[in-house]
Parts: sequence; C-alpha cells; structure tokens
Amino acid sequence: MAVAPRRVEHQQTDKGYVPVYTTAVVDQPWDSYSAEDHATWATLFRRQREILQGRASREFIVNQQRFGMTPDAIPRFEELNEVLAQATGWQLVGVEGLLPELTFFEHLANRRFPVTWWIRRPDQIDYIAEPDMFHDLFGHVPLLLNPVFADYMAAYGRGGVKAHAISPEALVNLTRLYWYTVEFGLIREEDGLRIYGSGIVSSKGESIHCLESPAPNHVGFDLQRIMRTRYRIDSYQKTYFVIDSFDQLMDATRPDFVPIYAQLAESESIPAGEIIAGDRVLQRGTGEGWASDGDV
Ligand code: PHE
Ligand code: FE
Repeated sequence: MAVAPRRVEHQQTDKGYVPVYTTAVVDQPWDSYSAEDHATWATLFRRQREILQGRASREFIVNQQRFGMTPDAIPRFEELNEVLAQATGWQLVGVEGLLPELTFFEHLANRRFPVTWWIRRPDQIDYIAEPDMFHDLFGHVPLLLNPVFADYMAAYGRGGVKAHAISPEALVNLTRLYWYTVEFGLIREEDGLRIYGSGIVSSKGESIHCLESPAPNHVGFDLQRIMRTRYRIDSYQKTYFVIDSFDQLMDATRPDFVPIYAQLAESESIPAGEIIAGDRVLQRGTGEGWASDGDV
C-alpha cells in the first residue's frame, strides 16, 4: 500500500513564521478526508461563490462552473483533470505543501499545477498563511481553462527556470510578477474592475477590500514597475495592478527578460504602497490602516 501523504505546514518558532518545503508528488487521499474537511470545503465554497458574484472576472466564474465543483464534497483531482486535459492540457498533481522554487517552476513549465492535498482547519477559515487545497483548487484552477492564461502560466514556469539560473535578484523580480498578476491581479471589464488573482478570490476579506476599500492603490499594469514593487505577505495588498485583458498580459511578458533583469539591477525597489511618476493611477489609495513597514 502507498504511504499516506504528509501534511506539511509552516512552523511557528521564536523567530516567527518559518516556511517548510517539500518536493513529493502524491495521490490525493480522497477517502481520508473527514466530515469536518468536507464541511470546511462547503463553507468556503458557498461563501466565496456568493461574494464573487459581480466581483470576480467573467472568465473566472464561467470557467469555474465548467468543472462542476459543488459545495457537497471536496472535488477529486482525477475528475478535474479530465476537464483540464481536454481544454488546455494542464494536469493537477497533489503535493504536501510549499514547493522549493525550482521544483514549482518545473511543474508549471510542464503544465502540471501543484495542488495541496489537505484543507485548512476550521479555526483557519478566514485566514491561513500558506496555500491549502481551497486556495489552490478554488482559486488557481479555474483560469487554467482559459487558453491564454494557461499559456501564460506555462511561460511563467519556463521563465522561472531561467531566472533561477541567473541570480537571486532576477528571481525576486519574477516572483513579484506572479504575485501581482496570478495571485493578486485585477482586470478591467466592461462593467468595471474585476478580480482574477487567486490570492484574492480565495479570501473573503480581500475580495471586498481590493475593490471597495479606498485604502489601496489601483495602478495600470506595467511589467517593469511590477518587477520593482515589493509586497506584503501578511496583510491585504497596498497596490493592485490592473490588466485590460489576458492578451495584454501575455504580450507584455513575451519578450526575453534577461536584458530587463539587467536593467532592473540598476534601479531601486518600490515600497508596496507608493505611487511613482508614470503610473497609470485608477485609484490613489488613502493608505488608511496600513502598517508602515514589512514589505518584502
Ligand atoms: N519572457 C519571459 C522570460 O524571458 C518568460 C515569462 C513569460 C515569464 C511569461 C513570465 C511570464 O523570462
Ligand atoms: Fe497561490
């Protein structure tokens, strides 16, 4: 019999939050989910479906419905994979927790999306510091059905393998791009701003905050600006970058990043909440309620 997968979580030490990494690929132990696990899925699923009406991008909502996920039970990766394989050739692979960067990039480059097999505990319903199954499945998987976004994710993986071989600074630049698009991106649709970032759609508080609060900035997408911008991992974002379409994202990221990394090595990073000359500002945030430091 196969060994049961582990549940690899961060550790809280006297130095604070310490991420723990794991490289194993595991089968989803579907029969091991408890009634409590299914109930957590149901609570989060119902709540976010409701909140995201009129807030999430059309592509996100339409594609999520194509999977036929329901609140009734945690989905089986195998069933989702049938839908994905036909549409864009992506496959979900089960993992135990956070992956080292290079391992993560290699999966993406090969159209494999790593999904954490376990779901958060009931006391973590509103906030969990690391990705769990709800974030990965509900948040990331729907847009893998969009052909342009699916290509963007694979290109990102190849770009990650490349940046990893260049320098730690190049990797920081590239990671910021993922953060401000895949995780925390907004898109402009006919009816107004909508969410497509997975880190937002899997969070009740941030789904409302990013669009309705006057605190954060909304700035038009700009590749180099994003690559210079620091971010917060433990609070709502101070700045959200807005794309006009997934084609725009794809076109802007197509050029070779090597000369861009070289150029960026000469420039200063930008604090998360700052507006700079040249920004296309859609909302200048009030900054209300921000802590003053902690950008990474
Ligand atoms: N064009 C990038 C490079 O040369 C690759 C990439 C594409 C990175 C899309 C991110 C997103 O590294
Ligand atoms: Fe994520």
